[in-house]
Amino acid sequence: MENLVFWYTWTIPYMYSMIMTNRGMQRFYEKILDIFIAIDFSGNNFKRQIPTSIGNLKGLHLLNLGSNNLTGHIPSSIGNLTQLESLDLSQNQLSGEIPLQLSRITFLAFFNVSHNHLTGPIPQGKQFTTFPNASFDGNSGLCGSPLSRACGSFEASPPTSSSSKQGSTSEFDWKFVLM
Ligand SMILES: *[C@@H]1O[C@H](CO)[C@@H](O)[C@H](O)[C@H]1NC(C)=O
Ligand SMILES: *[C@@H]1O[C@H](CO)[C@@H](O)[C@H](O)[C@H]1NC(C)=O
Ligand SMILES: *[C@@H]1O[C@H](CO)[C@@H](O)[C@H](O)[C@H]1NC(C)=O
Ligand SMILES: *[C@@H]1O[C@H](CO)[C@@H](O)[C@H](O)[C@H]1NC(C)=O
Repeated sequence: MENLVFWYTWTIPYMYSMIMTNRGMQRFYEKILDIFIAIDFSGNNFKRQIPTSIGNLKGLHLLNLGSNNLTGHIPSSIGNLTQLESLDLSQNQLSGEIPLQLSRITFLAFFNVSHNHLTGPIPQGKQFTTFPNASFDGNSGLCGSPLSRACGSFEASPPTSSSSKQGSTSEFDWKFVLM
């Protein structure tokens, strides 16, 4: 099997089945190792960066990393998760811009990056026209539709690559396991 399976050392006990809360609805996923369509690690205290390699989990439909104190940038590789329908990164310490690559996720129906430290223009077009401004609440540096703050006064800063930060000293507990 070519699927890469994502795991976090603390969560191994939960990997065979998980109950995930998404937009208030609870869903039960059985044998998550086999299909791995959803990740819900919300409400932990990770204080880590989201690994770039998360973009390898091409089958993901739901990614919920809300309320985790995650730091660093949103990896642009998330734009490679073309099956993604729900992305919740709310209530972390994420900074930098929302990668333009996220706008190419065709099926993205739910998106929440509220309460982070994100800056710069919100990607425009495609799915991003459908997200309410509550999805972006609590980021004083974001601008552009659907927020009322226009981007004019911001300098277009070149996107910084989060992938350049993968120092060998990083304390990732994130791991990928080849099945
Ligand atoms: C995030 O970190 C702050 C400060 O360390 C802590 O007070 C807060 O409870 C943490 N939040 C979560 C969701 O773990
Ligand atoms: C997305 O996937 C393509 C091919 O699979 C790869 O070349 C590219 O580097 C990936 N993009 C990111 C941002 O990871
Ligand atoms: C986004 O997440 C925040 C905090 O978790 C929540 O209060 C808010 O209702 C969510 N917004 C949307 C549009 O779901
Ligand atoms: C959110 O949208 C409402 C209605 O369009 C608008 O009145 C409000 O100012 C917006 N909030 C922000 C923070 O842009």
